[in-house]
Amino acid sequence: MIRTLLWLTLTALLSSTLYAQSTQELVNKVPNGLALTPPMGWNSWNKFACDVNEQTVRDTADEMASSGMRDAGYQYVVIDDCWHGPRDANGFITADAHKFPSGIKALADYVHSRGLKFGIYSDAGRLTCGGRPGSQGHEYQDALAYAHWGVDYLKYDWCNTGDRNAQEAYAVMADALRQNGRPIVFSMCEWGTAKPWLWARNTGNLWRTTGDISDDFATKKKGHDWEHPVLMLVDLNEPLWPYAGPGHWNDPDMLEVGNGGMTATEYRSHFSLWAMMASPLMAGNDVAHMDDTTKSILLSKEVIEVDQDRLGVQGHRVWKDGDREIWLKTLADGGVAVLLFNRGEQPATITATAEQIGWPAKERVRVRDLWAHRDVRLRRGGLTATVEPHGVAMFRLFRF
Ligand code: GLA
Repeated sequence: MIRTLLWLTLTALLSSTLYAQSTQELVNKVPNGLALTPPMGWNSWNKFACDVNEQTVRDTADEMASSGMRDAGYQYVVIDDCWHGPRDANGFITADAHKFPSGIKALADYVHSRGLKFGIYSDAGRLTCGGRPGSQGHEYQDALAYAHWGVDYLKYDWCNTGDRNAQEAYAVMADALRQNGRPIVFSMCEWGTAKPWLWARNTGNLWRTTGDISDDFATKKKGHDWEHPVLMLVDLNEPLWPYAGPGHWNDPDMLEVGNGGMTATEYRSHFSLWAMMASPLMAGNDVAHMDDTTKSILLSKEVIEVDQDRLGVQGHRVWKDGDREIWLKTLADGGVAVLLFNRGEQPATITATAEQIGWPAKERVRVRDLWAHRDVRLRRGGLTATVEPHGVAMFRLFRF
């Protein structure tokens, strides 16, 4: 009798442990199968901050469809902070009726009708960074509302979270999103504070690794102490390359290309470095009124292809000598992207030897200059370019 009891207790204990494990796997550990390449799109924050409204979003979606951006891969149209009105009597979130009089569902429908996807923003705290209602305590309710509206992407911020634990707080929203029946890309924005690259691989599809970008290249001219110039973001994000891959990306923040604070050379470098790092490419400019230079950078197809390579390797720096750097990114077709980067204030000649590139001397190769849009020769000494200050030369090597 005692034996039977013991046996029953043991079996019950064992099966409850097994059950708990499989439940845990189901709820927390199942990736959502989205963002197999780094997400591309547009986000309202860098240009419009809290001045965003439905007309701006509509104009942006129109232009993304007609300018070639959509066809180049920019898919998600994301409204960042400040779209929110109050919660209603049942706790459901409403839109700011003045800025979004037609409501979010109508706006999502409009964006979808342009062949694009629609994204929105919330926060794991009680208030967003802009002081609007956050999702704490309303996670499942908000996830349901988003699914009902047709949301395809959620950026989830980290202001006003008090003593919440980031891993737990993001898991709650990840679970809520997965159980509402609509595939929603989950973009975590906790600025790298709790090192999400160590634990968020099955929680979010991308996670910010840094504070906010400022529209500056080497040194910040103005702004808050949580805003950083491009070079600082690059140096924070680059060492994290082993943690990125299909479905889970390091995010050094959205693009500033076209916002006016940097030169065309610097914007090309910003864009190239983001592509080398397999970073999400979220345009952050006034797309409806962009000039030709901005358009040519955002639409540089061959550079975008490096970012979107399906192998999903985050490229990184393999050599540095003062201001001169060489970066490599391994690609799915067996080739490689090579970036020669001059951080300095003077032109610099940079050479990547065949050995540095890891290219067997006897192997035939086709070399493409991705910004000059022409084929070049790989000489015996390697790839050489004289690179302008703050500039890059970017190549792609194809195997025959
Ligand atoms: C934080 C985020 C930004 C932006 C603002 C909105 O600073 O890091 O990307 O979303 O909040 O208030």
